[in-house]
Amino acid sequence: MSDVAVATDQEEIPKHGELVDERLVKWYFLAALTYFFISLAGGFLMAFQLIRHNSLDGIELLSPGRWRMVHTNAIAYGFLANAFLGMLHWVIPRLTLQKVLDKRLSMFIFVAWQVVVVSTAVGLILGHAQAVEWGETPVWIDPLALVGLLLVAINFMSPIVKMEGPLYVSLWYFTAAFVWTFLTYAMGNFVPQYYVSGSSAGAVGGLFIHDLVGLFVTPLGWGMMYYFVPILLKKPVWSHGLSLVGFWGLAFFYPLQGIHHFLYTPIPMFLQYGAVMSTIAVELVVLTVVINFFGTLWGDGKEFWENIPIRWFYTGMVYYAMTCFQCALQVTLTFQQLIQFTDWVVGHAHLVMFGVFSMWLMGVMTYLFPRLLKTDWYSRSLCEWHFWLSAVGLLVMAGDLTLAGLFQGWSWMGMMEWNHSYNISQPFWVTRIFAALTILGGQLCFLWNLYKTWQLAPTEAELSQATAAV
Ligand code: HEM
Repeated sequence: MSDVAVATDQEEIPKHGELVDERLVKWYFLAALTYFFISLAGGFLMAFQLIRHNSLDGIELLSPGRWRMVHTNAIAYGFLANAFLGMLHWVIPRLTLQKVLDKRLSMFIFVAWQVVVVSTAVGLILGHAQAVEWGETPVWIDPLALVGLLLVAINFMSPIVKMEGPLYVSLWYFTAAFVWTFLTYAMGNFVPQYYVSGSSAGAVGGLFIHDLVGLFVTPLGWGMMYYFVPILLKKPVWSHGLSLVGFWGLAFFYPLQGIHHFLYTPIPMFLQYGAVMSTIAVELVVLTVVINFFGTLWGDGKEFWENIPIRWFYTGMVYYAMTCFQCALQVTLTFQQLIQFTDWVVGHAHLVMFGVFSMWLMGVMTYLFPRLLKTDWYSRSLCEWHFWLSAVGLLVMAGDLTLAGLFQGWSWMGMMEWNHSYNISQPFWVTRIFAALTILGGQLCFLWNLYKTWQLAPTEAELSQATAAV
């Protein structure tokens, strides 16, 4: 298993051991996986409700409406944020050859972030959601989350500032993500809540939704790819010039496009047109990034099949290109008339959040767990099952919801009664359950494989004995 073998570079191990807090990386990954499963529980509850099967009906605390918010929040702040933080604790010290600011601060942030995520879930389940899409975090948690993001930025910026020499592309993206995430969270959670209302609040809400994806998840995701892909392929990224285009294009165009979530609303039309134009611009820009990565893979196509983390990464990139293509259609006012408020959007959301960023993070975990546990994966076939069930399940789910969205849109445009669109959605929503079970199956394979691998891992005592012997 060349792709998931343990690092054995003798020169690197002592340095790496001083720099990287591996225990913390493991904790972050485990926390991320825990929230992933909690999120799936929320997704299933809502999905069954939509096909009129809710065996928990009448239990307020398990209401699908509340658990839908747990589903999305647990994915964003529980799974993605924790997995990214774990990855950053590995990558930043290795790239900068500097430790994070303070180990105790890292521990504090880990605990504080779990308190934020768990309190958010409890707040949502108890019915204290804030009326801001993607910012449902109860209002009393917002200041804590913001302080948490500030501490994260301080802790990781310290090694970046101390580092000597030019900044790697990954570090540009990470640095930008620390600043943008803080600002985005502050804008989205405080401005509509306390300072503006009506269509102005809608405009800010649109910016917030989109910037969460574009200025928090996207820069962390691409920064991660710029680090792991060249390492795994053992060659530099194809074009440094295209990396520059990708980064600055994202920085310039992304923040202008949030209002495309609220086309055909009372928000002034010049803002809606501006959002459409900048969305088209950003699509061209992100495609340059995808081209750059495929240029990097050129000549090493066999790695896609042999190297499982590379397969996760590039499949995510294919899904990324697909979402960009969808965006090109859905951002036009003409197409919006058909798909607005339909399941097309839900399909698009799954394609981006699971198909792209979660796939990349799964690839990173597949690569890093054997290094963290100092042993190979227990089973390569289970790694394969994890990949294929996830990739195929997601493709079916996204395709199914995209089609459902088109049929719903046609039903509404044909002025059919509301129930008509609900009834024609049923077969699609049943199919979604099967696709979701496939995805769940993939994650269970991963969990079992991880459990068995952990059992094979040497203990601390065995490791120190081995080091002493060397
Ligand atoms: C595999 C089991 C899953 C099931 C059964 C499921 C089901 C659902 C359902 C029923 C909704 C609400 C749709 C609606 O309101 O009409 C939803 C929304 C959403 N889910 Fe999932 N989901 C699953 C996995 C995931 C994963 C793995 C992710 C991300 C990593 C994800 C991200 C989202 C997002 C972002 C939304 C919000 C969509 C929007 O508001 O447009 N889901 N999901």
